[in-house]
Amino acid sequence: MGWVRCIAEPGPAQFRGTEDGGEPSATLRGFHPSDLDTIMEIVAEGLHEHYDPTLYGTLSAAWPEGFLVAADELDRPVGFLLGVNQTPGEGRVLMFAVDRAARRRGVGTLLMEAFLERCRRRGLHRATLEVRVSNAAAIRLYARFRFSVVDLLRGYYSDGENGYQMARDVA
Ligand SMILES: CC(C)(COP(=O)(O)OP(=O)(O)OC[C@H]1O[C@@H](n2cnc3c(N)ncnc32)[C@H](O)[C@@H]1OP(=O)(O)O)[C@@H](O)C(=O)NCCC(=O)NCCS
Repeated sequence: MGWVRCIAEPGPAQFRGTEDGGEPSATLRGFHPSDLDTIMEIVAEGLHEHYDPTLYGTLSAAWPEGFLVAADELDRPVGFLLGVNQTPGEGRVLMFAVDRAARRRGVGTLLMEAFLERCRRRGLHRATLEVRVSNAAAIRLYARFRFSVVDLLRGYYSDGENGYQMARDVA
C-alpha cells in the first residue's frame, strides 16, 4: 500500500494510501545539497520560477528545520516546503511545491503539518504565505489548514498577477 510517513515527526503522521499498491512512499527529511537539481526542476515546473541556486543553501543554513523535503523510496525529492523566519515570531512559506506526478496523495499536507510543527517548536506564533489569486488548489489546501486571506497584493507576481497574503496562528 502506498503511503507517506514522516521520520522526523513520529506519532500519528497522516498518510493516504492508494488502491493499487504500486505507489511510492514519501518520507520527510531535511534538505541535502544533492537535492538541489531535483528541487530546482520542481520549482521550474510547479512555480515557474528560477532562483539563484545558492539561495537554497543559504536559507537552509539560516533555519535548517524550516526546509522540509519529502523524498521517495530512493531518497529523491518529490516535494518540498522552504520556510523562513526573517520576521520575529513569524514563519513564512517561501516556496512550496510537489512534483506533478506525486500530487493529490497527501504529500503537500504532510509538508505543511510538519512546517507548522517546526514553527511551534521554534516558538513562532504566526505563519504567513503568499499565493496567486488563481491558484485554487493551493488556496484550498491553505484554507484546510485554517490560513485566511489577510491582504490583497496587487501586481505581486512578475507577470502582474495579484497575490493573496494568507496567515494563521500557530499556537
Ligand atoms: C499546492 C500543492 C503543493 C499541493 O500538494 P499536494 O501534495 O497535491 O497536496 P495534498 O495531496 O496534500 O492535497 C491536500 C488538499 O489540498 C487541496 N488540493 C490539492 N490539490 C488540489 C487540486 N488540484 N484541486 C483542488 N484542491 C486541491 C485539496 O483540498 C486536497 O485535499 P483532498 O485531496 O482531500 O481534496 C501542489 O498542488 C503543487 O505543488 N502545486 C504547484 C505549486 C504551487 O502552486 N505551490 C503553492 C504556491 S503558493
